[in-house]
Amino acid sequence: MSDILQYLEEVHPQPPPLLLELEQRGHDDGVPIVSREVGRFLATLVHAMQANRILEVGTAYGYSTLWMALAQPPVGTIWTIDVDVARTDVARSYFERAGEAESIEVLNQPALEVLENFPQRNLDIVFIDADKREYRAYLDLAIPTLKRSGLVIVDNCLWHGNAAQSERPDDTPETKAIRDFNRYFLSHPDLAATILPLGDGTGIGARVR
Ligand SMILES: C[S@@+](CC[C@H](N)C(=O)[O-])C[C@H]1O[C@@H](n2cnc3c(N)ncnc32)[C@H](O)[C@@H]1O
Repeated sequence: MSDILQYLEEVHPQPPPLLLELEQRGHDDGVPIVSREVGRFLATLVHAMQANRILEVGTAYGYSTLWMALAQPPVGTIWTIDVDVARTDVARSYFERAGEAESIEVLNQPALEVLENFPQRNLDIVFIDADKREYRAYLDLAIPTLKRSGLVIVDNCLWHGNAAQSERPDDTPETKAIRDFNRYFLSHPDLAATILPLGDGTGIGARVR
C-alpha cells in the first residue's frame, strides 16, 4: 500500500465490526468485494442523496450492499442481483445480523434477465459490479431505471490496472470490454460521467436526461 493510501486508511475511523468481519470473510474465501475505500464512498453517496431506492448488479457476500444499506434512510430498499446462491446465502446471513434483511431483496437470476424486465423506475443509484463483459449492456438497461440526477456507479473501471496499459494481442475479453465500456460510459449522451482513481477505478455518472 502506498504511503498516501496508508495515511488515508489510518485517518478514517474503522468500519463497524460486522463490515470488518464480512470484509475478512471475503478475503479469506477469495470472494471479490469492493475495496474498503469504495465501500466508504458508496456510503457517503447514499447519505448525501438520502438514497432509498438502489439497484446493485453483483452481490457476492453483500459487502458493498451492506455499506449502502447501513447508510440508507430508515425506509429504503436495495434490490441486489447475483446468480451465485451459495454466495448470496452468506450475504443474507449478514443482512439478518445487521438488521437489514427487510430492506434488501436478493434476486438470484442472470443480471441481464433481471434488468430486461426490471419493473422499478426512479432509482437513486444503480451500482454495477458483475460480469465485466456485460457492463455496457447493464448500463444501457440501467439508465432508464434511474431518476434524473440519479447516479450509476461502476466498480473495476481499471480492471486491476490492465485497462490503463497499452493494448496487447493477449488482452483478456474482460480487459477489452472494460476499455470499450469506459469510452462508452464517459461519452454517453444521457450521463455526466467521470472515473475516479479510487479502488480499482470507480465510475460515477449522473443521469442528465
Ligand atoms: C465482484 S462480485 C460482487 C461484489 C460485491 N459488489 C461486493 O463488493 O461485495 C461479482 C458478482 O457478480 C456475480 N455475477 C457475475 N456475472 C453475473 C451475471 N451475469 N448475473 C448475475 N450475477 C453475476 C458473481 O456471481 C459475483 O458474485
